Amino acid sequence: MSKILICYYSRSGNTKKMAYLIQKGVMAEDVEVDTKDVKNVQVKDLLAYDGIVLGSPTYYGGPAAPIKDLLDKSIRYHGKLQDKVGGAFSSSANVGGGNETTVLALLQGLMIHGMVVLGDSEGDHYGPVAIEKPDKRAEKNCTRYGQRVAQLVKKLS
Ligand SMILES: Cc1cc2nc3c(=O)[nH]c(=O)nc-3n(C[C@H](O)[C@H](O)[C@H](O)COP(=O)(O)O)c2cc1C
Repeated sequence: MSKILICYYSRSGNTKKMAYLIQKGVMAEDVEVDTKDVKNVQVKDLLAYDGIVLGSPTYYGGPAAPIKDLLDKSIRYHGKLQDKVGGAFSSSANVGGGNETTVLALLQGLMIHGMVVLGDSEGDHYGPVAIEKPDKRAEKNCTRYGQRVAQLVKKLS
């Protein structure tokens, strides 16, 4: 059975809320999902999943150090994550505060691993973004994203 990891860092809980909304979307597609704080994820764990979705608050327009650290350590398995599905999401304080550049930085890393990343013509184009705590708009985009990532994982598995 296909399995997705949603791995997040969250200091004040906003990104964590997004992670669990994305989880809800994945579960609606009957795909197995583990949602974990990055502190409970070891880099070797990444190998066990068909899809990996990374979430980070926006820190100075990019990912927070603990998530970047996981990505940097993942070089140990460079080539082994090829063709898995990748995704990213972020919460920032401000509109124009860099949440999309954070998502894109994470997607860049996943693409360098050879992963397949998913855009969206209707929802948040690169991956879900929220201003602080997810509002109704962000909630909808998070669950939609989880569902679409799960659908893609099923298609590719
Ligand atoms: C070190 C640091 C840097 C930040 N940099 C930005 C930033 O560049 N742009 C922005 O809009 N918000 C910035 N923020 C605010 C957080 O991205 C925002 O509060 C986010 O919702 C926190 O998510 P969390 O609750 O998951 O920790 C920063 C916060 C911290 C602590």
